[in-house]
Amino acid sequence: MESHPVAKAVRQRRTVYRFRPGPLPDGLIEEMLEMASHAPNHKHTQPWRFVVVRGQAIARLADLRVELQRQRAAKDGKPVGDLAAIRAEVEDAAAVVYVLQAVVEDEKRRQEDYASCMMAAYALQLVAWEREVGVRWNTGQLTRKEAVRSFLGCRDGEEITCCLLLGHPEEIPPDWKRRPLQEITRYIE
Ligand SMILES: Cc1cc2nc3c(=O)[nH]c(=O)nc-3n(C[C@H](O)[C@H](O)[C@H](O)COP(=O)(O)O)c2cc1C
Repeated sequence: MESHPVAKAVRQRRTVYRFRPGPLPDGLIEEMLEMASHAPNHKHTQPWRFVVVRGQAIARLADLRVELQRQRAAKDGKPVGDLAAIRAEVEDAAAVVYVLQAVVEDEKRRQEDYASCMMAAYALQLVAWEREVGVRWNTGQLTRKEAVRSFLGCRDGEEITCCLLLGHPEEIPPDWKRRPLQEITRYIE
C-alpha cells in the first residue's frame, strides 16, 4: 500500500509541534493553497478563504498570542505559564495559514462548507508533508478571539475554522495507536 504516494502520505503524516526556524521555498505556500482549493466541495460553494501570516507579521502574531495568554491567566486567576515557549510556538513557524469559512444562513450548507474547509486544511497538510514541511493544526487561542479576527482583517460573514502553523520539522512525533478495524467497522452484505 505504501508504494502508493497518497496512501504513504496519509499513513506517515504527523502533526509537527516543533519547528526549526527558516523560510519556506518561494511559491510553496501558493502551491499548497492551490492544492487545498481542490478539496471536495458540495455545490462548489468554495467556502474557504485563506489568510497567510508570514514575514514580520509572524512576530506580531506571536506578540498577540502572548497577550492573549496573559489575559486568560488574569481572567482565570492562574499562573501565566511559560511565555517564551508560547511565543516560540508561533515565532518558530515560517508561516501561519488561516482557513476561514464564508458562512451562509442555511444550516446544512454551513455544515457541508465547514467539512470542505477541513478537507482543504487536510489537503494542505498532506501536500506540505510530501514537501517535508510540517504543519501544526490549531483551534485554540489563535483562532477564537476577537483580537485575532481584527489582526487578520476578517470580513463580515467570515469565520475562522482553524490555523495551520507551517515550518521545517524539528522533530516528528511518533505514531499513535488506532483502534482495530474490526472494532469500528460493521459490514452489511
Ligand atoms: C480539527 C482539529 C483541531 C485541532 N486542534 C489542535 C489544537 O488546537 N492544538 C494542537 O496542538 N493540535 C490540534 N490538532 C492536532 C491534533 O491534536 C492531532 O491531529 C492529533 O494529536 C493526532 O496527531 P497526528 O496529526 O500526528 O496524527 C487539531 C487537529 C484537528 C483535526
